[in-house]
Amino acid sequence: MRIVLVGPPGAGKGTQAQFIASHLSIPKISTGDIFRTNVNQGTELGREARAFMDRGDLVPDTVTIAMVRDRLSEGDAADGFLLDGFPRTLHQAKVLDEILDEMGDKLDVVLELVVDDDEVVRRLSGRRTCRQCGRVWHLDFDPPKVDGICDQCIGELFQRDDDREETIRHRLEVYAEQTAPLIDFYADQGNLVGLDATGPVEDVTERAIGALRRFGG
Ligand code: AP5
Repeated sequence: MRIVLVGPPGAGKGTQAQFIASHLSIPKISTGDIFRTNVNQGTELGREARAFMDRGDLVPDTVTIAMVRDRLSEGDAADGFLLDGFPRTLHQAKVLDEILDEMGDKLDVVLELVVDDDEVVRRLSGRRTCRQCGRVWHLDFDPPKVDGICDQCIGELFQRDDDREETIRHRLEVYAEQTAPLIDFYADQGNLVGLDATGPVEDVTERAIGALRRFGG
């Protein structure tokens, strides 16, 4: 299946992406993760993206689209993928359709994770991520057994630079202005599914997998 996960920052896209992608045996492609890896490795792409990310702004479309185009051309994405965090502008969405068209493919489902702004702030201020395997934790809702250490790989947990409260508020504004218009765009295409993303993580995963089943997943 070819799936897009869309939703505000902190809606749980990364959390759900890891479970859904593993359930369907398809690669999870997270533009945020790819940018962060490049920032950590000090690559040219990372240097280009960093200032935008730290401010909570979107990285320019030209940079992001070239990166996704490359990633989608890799062999593991030939039979399906789950995109987490892309597209995020109408232009990105239209170019994604063109890229898939060139490949003779199309999107099967766009899952919209729906949560309110207060929940977003609660989730992001308690988020911790594993430096080694990328597993996402939450200090209250999904805590690791040992403080600061990933249960999965004993890697060190860190707090993202863009998870400060004022940056979170700005990211929400950016979402409302630049990404929310995608909801109507995909609703018009007939492949949008709105999903209540509140409640325990496992319940949201179950709802997501149930929704995907209706599209053949
Ligand atoms: P990105 O990494 O994509 O950030 P985001 O969209 O803001 O999303 P987040 O990763 O913050 O949240 P999430 O929805 O994945 O939530 P999570 O699962 O972690 O992008 C970062 C930056 O990169 C952007 O600001 C931009 O600069 C750049 N960028 C990326 N893509 C781009 C693009 N296409 N174009 C331009 N620029 C781009 O969950 C959050 C927390 O909540 C976790 O602690 C988790 O444990 C907890 N949680 C999850 N589910 C639940 C639940 N059901 N109940 C309780 N807690 C939960």
